[in-house]
Amino acid sequence: MELAKRHLLLGITGGVAAYKAAELSRELQRRGATVQVVMTEAATRFIGPPTFQALTGQPVFTDQWDPRIDNSMAHIELTRRADAIVIVPASADFLAKLAHGLADDLLSTLCLARNCPLLAAPAMNREMWAQAPTQRNVRQLTADGVRLLGPGSGDQACGETGMGRMLEPDELAEDIAAFFTAQRLAGREILITAGPTFEPIDPVRGITNLSSGKMGFAIARACRQAGGQVTLVAGPTMLPTPRGVRRFDVRTARQMHDAVMDRLDGPQARVDVFISVAAVADWRIANASTSKLKKTADGAPPQLQFAQNPDILASVAARPGAPYCVGFAAESEDLERHGQEKRERKGVPLLVANIGHETFGMDDNELLLIDAGGSHRLPRASKTELAASLVNELAARLAHPIARS
Ligand SMILES: Cc1cc2nc3c(=O)[nH]c(=O)nc-3n(C[C@H](O)[C@H](O)[C@H](O)COP(=O)(O)O)c2cc1C
Repeated sequence: MELAKRHLLLGITGGVAAYKAAELSRELQRRGATVQVVMTEAATRFIGPPTFQALTGQPVFTDQWDPRIDNSMAHIELTRRADAIVIVPASADFLAKLAHGLADDLLSTLCLARNCPLLAAPAMNREMWAQAPTQRNVRQLTADGVRLLGPGSGDQACGETGMGRMLEPDELAEDIAAFFTAQRLAGREILITAGPTFEPIDPVRGITNLSSGKMGFAIARACRQAGGQVTLVAGPTMLPTPRGVRRFDVRTARQMHDAVMDRLDGPQARVDVFISVAAVADWRIANASTSKLKKTADGAPPQLQFAQNPDILASVAARPGAPYCVGFAAESEDLERHGQEKRERKGVPLLVANIGHETFGMDDNELLLIDAGGSHRLPRASKTELAASLVNELAARLAHPIARS
């Protein structure tokens, strides 16, 4: 789990968005973190400490004179155990206190006494956010090394619309997890294909496959978490776009091919890594009908003719100055030999083979990495964990480039 062994001090200040900190505390724990909550007095007017006590299983502190801390040094003791302090929501008032180094309650004192990173998710009315003092404080905090998460723009609790809306709990959890992820792909442009393709037979029917897109989306997310700039070309799937990833939706193999080539040929095109995870149809229907096929009186079935689709991975790998290419394969037997053959045929330095047949749609998987030096296994794990391992493998290969084919 990406936040395993992380101890986070979750500071809650007085804003309407305080209720979202409850969901965030759950999400952080789901990702493996332990969470200690500290609230300002104003925060307790919006949501009660017992909620967080129940959700985190830890006592909640609001008062620097709290007798539960043995040596009365809560303002220091609570930070020494923390890997980071995360203020969610961060009120305009609290940002001002942080920017000026004020320490007149437990949470602000903890922030000043900390020896760990500080992250803050501003949440306020758009006018409060836009005011010169708030903007001045934001600049000061950024210069001081505080990591601001958001805010975003949108509907606000006051009924207005604009900047100052707090990020949603899942977005915050993603950003916090990314904060703790080694930025091993920082500065890299990564292009990924994912999901199935759909080849029409007529306007309402088509041929597709069982790819869910989960592995490709997990890889896109892991690359982003590791600091890469990620573009995802996705076949038909209902999966949500990973945070910070640019997504282009396509349907057919030819559309996927064209979308990939557009990214490679665009005016400011630069792709360092191409990862082909999509299960692209080898064949399309050459005589697809423009109107719905109907049953005929004599019961004769339609005569479908097939035409070969372009091989996207091989075409990318064959380009002059090709990006570092990674292919995926679903071989059913003699994995290593077939994988090695396929890798050489496609002209790619790294081929990833799914071990086992039933990986489509599942949440876990087992992979075999095949390169010019041989092969090694990534043992069965969730697709999220495998994606993180694959990113590490990729980053190591990019740092020490080996033969490109
Ligand atoms: C109903 C209500 C909603 C508020 N919502 C916000 C808010 O979303 N963001 C904000 O910065 N301040 C908001 N405030 C003002 C803060 O609660 C106030 O500035 C308070 O002193 C903040 O204290 P703290 O920073 O110590 O938690 C709100 C006040 C009230 C009464």
